[in-house]
Amino acid sequence: MLPEEGRRWRLVEDAIRGVLMAHAYEEIQLPLLEATELFSRGVGEATDIVEKEMYTLADRDGDSLSLRPEGTAGCARALLQHGLLHNQSQRVFYAGPMFRYERPQKGRYRQFYQVGAEAFGMAGPDVDAELIHMCQLMWRALGIGGEARLEINTLGSGAARAAYRQALVEYLTPMAADLDADSQRRLGSNPLRILDSKAAKTQELLAGAPSLADFVDADAKAHFAGLCELLEHLDVPFEVNPKLVRGLDYYTHTVFEWKTGALGAQDTICAGGRYDGLVELLGGRPTPGAGFAVGVERVLLLHEQLSQAAGFESAADVYCCVLDEELQAQVFALARKLRDALPGLRIRTHAGGGKLKSQMRRADASGARIALLMGEDEIANDVVSLKYLRETREQETVPAGDLQTVLGEYFE
Ligand code: HAM
Repeated sequence: MLPEEGRRWRLVEDAIRGVLMAHAYEEIQLPLLEATELFSRGVGEATDIVEKEMYTLADRDGDSLSLRPEGTAGCARALLQHGLLHNQSQRVFYAGPMFRYERPQKGRYRQFYQVGAEAFGMAGPDVDAELIHMCQLMWRALGIGGEARLEINTLGSGAARAAYRQALVEYLTPMAADLDADSQRRLGSNPLRILDSKAAKTQELLAGAPSLADFVDADAKAHFAGLCELLEHLDVPFEVNPKLVRGLDYYTHTVFEWKTGALGAQDTICAGGRYDGLVELLGGRPTPGAGFAVGVERVLLLHEQLSQAAGFESAADVYCCVLDEELQAQVFALARKLRDALPGLRIRTHAGGGKLKSQMRRADASGARIALLMGEDEIANDVVSLKYLRETREQETVPAGDLQTVLGEYFE
């Protein structure tokens, strides 16, 4: 991430964090490296992520460690290990890089950044709805709400999922030879993923396949109906996609994805769901959980496409020139005073000496809209010269005491 992107990045991450913090989710920081076993158990041995996408290494003791490919398993591990799950509920979020050995392309990287939220200890659809609603608020805050649509589905309980898996395998096995190569492989390891196949012939064969919805029990149906109702009340439009299964094994009940039509193939900007069996799988007592993770680079791409917001081209708003080396300390003092008085403004002071002409070149390159000039004359007369760099290139002199007001009004 280079500086120009960094400005937009900050805005996007701050908006996402703002929504999470307004809902009293608390930040947690997780290690980048975890025992490989955490992911093979938690995310699932037969998932693409664990099978072929992890960066795995042996440390000096020969223990197998992996760079985290996602945050949910590590988050559950940490809270469990520190006794924060038993008889309590937790709502936390994390932000940071994840690592997957995937084929890089626009919107898909081997190191990418997620902001994830996880809620533990609450079994009802209320918290599913809260999580999904928070996403909607994030998109709105960023002005990308019109381009993000929500798909939801229910996978039912763990037992329902297992029964469905068996039925799907029984249905597909006789026609295995006609499936695409990936689906053939998945038939033995992760058959639910076959539903996601992009191959036309496979999709044709799936037309007569048993439906997951027929295996979902009454409790799970009630959970899902409760979620749908809450989403309607919250005014979050959604589409039920019965084929949405997600690529990680820990999901039960609710799964969801936020998609966009504006990014091409990598169209999911955020995804999540419920994972009621995960904590138990990791050695804890049965503890319900649900969460999501936002793919920050993808949100950034979308934001870039949609927003014409100004300010992203420039590194600074005001550039303070130093007309005389002797005055360096006074320029610093002026800049400091302005930063205190006008906290939103990005004020860069010149460094490295040089003639006025070369300082003005730097001022222009910084993207600043105003350069401040302070030399002997200005000091003597208690004024500051102010040069407008963008619209007019005019220069004017203002009394030092008025400078804050002039700048404040100009940048309002
Ligand atoms: P995931 O679907 O694997 O779920 O990833 C979540 C989001 O991260 C994706 O929707 C996408 O926006 C972004 N993402 C994934 N892989 C890449 C990549 N290679 N390059 C760029 N962006 C990517 C999870 O990771 C779950 N832990 C989400 C979750 C949290 N479920 C419950 N709690």
